Amino acid sequence: MPSRYDLRLEPDLTTLTFRGQETVALEITETVSELLLNATELAVDSASLENDRGETIRASATMDEATERCRLALASPASRGRWRLRLAFRGTLNDKLRGFYRSVYKDPSGVTRTLAATQFEATDARRAFPCWDEPSFKAVFSVTLAIDPTLTAVSNTAVVGETLENGRKVVRFADTIVMSTYLVAFVVGELEATEPVLVGRTPLKIFCVPGKKRLARFGQEIAAASLAFFEDYYGMPYPGDKLDLLAIPDFAAGAMENLGAITFRETALLVDESAASHAELERVADVVAHENAHMWFGDLVTMTWWNGIWLNEAFATFMEMLAVDAWKPEWQRWTTFGVSRAAAMSLDGLHSTRPIEFPVTSPRDADAMFDVLTYEKGASVLRMLEQYLGAVVFREGVREYLRAHRFGNADTGDLWAALGRSAQQPIPAVMDGWIFRPGYPVLTVSRDPGGHLVLSQQRFNYLREPLPPAQAEPEQPWQVPVQLRLYTGTQTVEERVLLAEREARMRVGTGAEAIVANAGGHGFYRVRYAPDLLEALLTRVETLAPIERFNLVNDAWALTVAGLMPLTAYLDLTARFRGERDRNVWTVLIASFYSLNRVLEPGDRRRLAALVRDRVRPAFDALGWTPRAGEDELRRQLRGDLIRVLGVLGDDGEIQTRAAEVYRAHLTDPSAVDPNVLPAVIAVLAHVGDAARYDDFLRRFRAATTPQEEQRYLYALAGFRDPALIRGTLERTVNAEIRTQDAPFVARAMLMSPDAREIAWQFVKAQWDTMDRLYPKHGMRRLAEGVTGLPTPALEADVQHFFAEKKPQFGGKVLAQYLEQLHVAVMLRQREGDALSAYLSKFA
Ligand code: BES
Ligand code: ZN
Repeated sequence: MPSRYDLRLEPDLTTLTFRGQETVALEITETVSELLLNATELAVDSASLENDRGETIRASATMDEATERCRLALASPASRGRWRLRLAFRGTLNDKLRGFYRSVYKDPSGVTRTLAATQFEATDARRAFPCWDEPSFKAVFSVTLAIDPTLTAVSNTAVVGETLENGRKVVRFADTIVMSTYLVAFVVGELEATEPVLVGRTPLKIFCVPGKKRLARFGQEIAAASLAFFEDYYGMPYPGDKLDLLAIPDFAAGAMENLGAITFRETALLVDESAASHAELERVADVVAHENAHMWFGDLVTMTWWNGIWLNEAFATFMEMLAVDAWKPEWQRWTTFGVSRAAAMSLDGLHSTRPIEFPVTSPRDADAMFDVLTYEKGASVLRMLEQYLGAVVFREGVREYLRAHRFGNADTGDLWAALGRSAQQPIPAVMDGWIFRPGYPVLTVSRDPGGHLVLSQQRFNYLREPLPPAQAEPEQPWQVPVQLRLYTGTQTVEERVLLAEREARMRVGTGAEAIVANAGGHGFYRVRYAPDLLEALLTRVETLAPIERFNLVNDAWALTVAGLMPLTAYLDLTARFRGERDRNVWTVLIASFYSLNRVLEPGDRRRLAALVRDRVRPAFDALGWTPRAGEDELRRQLRGDLIRVLGVLGDDGEIQTRAAEVYRAHLTDPSAVDPNVLPAVIAVLAHVGDAARYDDFLRRFRAATTPQEEQRYLYALAGFRDPALIRGTLERTVNAEIRTQDAPFVARAMLMSPDAREIAWQFVKAQWDTMDRLYPKHGMRRLAEGVTGLPTPALEADVQHFFAEKKPQFGGKVLAQYLEQLHVAVMLRQREGDALSAYLSKFA
């Protein structure tokens, strides 16, 4: 049992190597002749054990790369008791954005610079130092970094000493709290920091590479606000001695919750508030709040094993919403969360889904757990539970859980126990079905001849026939907290029922003219209304809350894709939303139009564009091109979203022409155009752009002065339609022009675009091995998701053939999910293709 690591690392940014020494305090519980610990891509130069009784045992190290372990054969057996393990080792600063790695960027004068950073979750601490690299082996870490004196070093805790030894600056950091290996971090480079702000007694700073400090203000504000929010919500002070947030130019994930030294990709932390769109600001606020939430949920209390990662990620996602909602209530964060819930329901409607908690044995399976089921389904069911128990009772349970398990590990049962004590009711009966079983129900709502309300539940699946291997339908119904709203005359009443049976017949609502069966929109289930009830709702659709309208459209679309509602009925339904002004409701409408565009016969594209204009133009015309005085941020973002869909999918000539003018105005005066409109305009111009426009955007991508500007132009490069330009962008995903942190996402976007997908798919097939070699570890999984955008029978067959041959190892059920999603879209095409064509013939 390790209890303490004294760790000294000496990175060399010119040779791109590092040397390390460590002393691990161990409790040996029985006499042993060998020790096994994790290590990979490290050379162990020496190893020995010593104790306070003056005994020393030499050990010889052998690496086993297949199991990522180092075996220490002891020269003589070590008896029970306390020992110190001393190791010396070497490694390289790799370019795969994992373990101890290098990140390369240009400084303000254009000179290429290197920094070293770490990313350890889930199982990559073992790439930086030999360790017992599992979340339940918690220990204290005492880190020392010996670096070039011109550089800055950051680790989890405050600096407690700095000396000069043999021309190296030796920086010593305070002891950490007892924590898991995956949370250790060090960053070394030419870093600039903001002035600290004090939150309670915690100094909080933002670090970035030189020249970007002006982009740190917004991130620091939400960081301070959310840290204060969590200290209050959790009823417990921040567990570290300082908090640094660092923007790293090359970063595989979005951000990482290393205690006291949170690392981010630049787009998730640095932003120019005055030049950013609402969506770009929301992204920064979300990620910062999310990582801060982890300081308690994840860092102070950690899941026992990776099967329970939802305890980390679902909670951080849920808490992120609470904190951002408290910080900017006008952003209506819980309504926008509907988009995340919808993404989870989309994956969870597959036969190849998995329960939130799911067995993990290999590192690959651990990586595969970081998906929308862990994050978004997890957060959704927590929200459902919070609403069911009441916010105060829920918070008390959370506090109790943190108090009971701080500095330790916990699992789902521990959470239920704490919540159960607070709620004075057993939690597992209600919750286990949502956590330990795959999928979710669709509630059918109808009335029997006696006027009684009939609610019945079945598992929702997009495909009737399960793909082999066949999966049996779960026996047990879910316990569904159902919030009903009943409209009778001018009266509305709300009723709460827990639907625990397959079917329930209720007296409530007799005589009601309309019924909302997921009032407030928190439920993780779909609703299928009988036709008369649906019609009754649609006639008073403006009385529904935005999240309820969102769910209405989202469920209707899902039922359509699943073959439970005719496509023509769905398309008619979209016509009733021309007056819609909520940005999230538009998000789901627009997404469905994009999905249709992917399954359409090419000859019908023009007609779909006309349908899109018919549906969207009235809303846009009401908004106009320029914000009115006093307009809120969401309205401005909606304007951008509508311009984008009209100019791209709607192929609206007027929008396209005007976009070019607006863009010219922006170039002469950057403040002339609303920041929510500009990203849309750039996307529209790419869609209609020629080679000259491409070269201009490429130049602006390279010269961008904010991470957001760089992203806009980068993704614009994926939106050009000329085959030569499509090939140009694809080339850039493998020739180092696009950072490997971004390249998989750019290629994925091109696979999802009907204009680029055939060329992109040929390219990806040909370059698969190269990409696999270049991209960071989640890269291929992200890229491969793009095959869900290839829904023609011929392409589907080719995809299946390709993967059968390549056998990519994404871990978990990832590949099966992509293939099933693809098949769902192909089935939609087969089933509804003719009806769609006929419907569109009305749109010349
Ligand atoms: N713990 C994760 C980072 C991570 C993700 C590590 C995957 C290893 C594998 C972090 O807290 C996180 O969830 N980051 C998100 C952003 C967040 C706002 C959803 C990410 O990286 O996308
Ligand atoms: Zn997280």
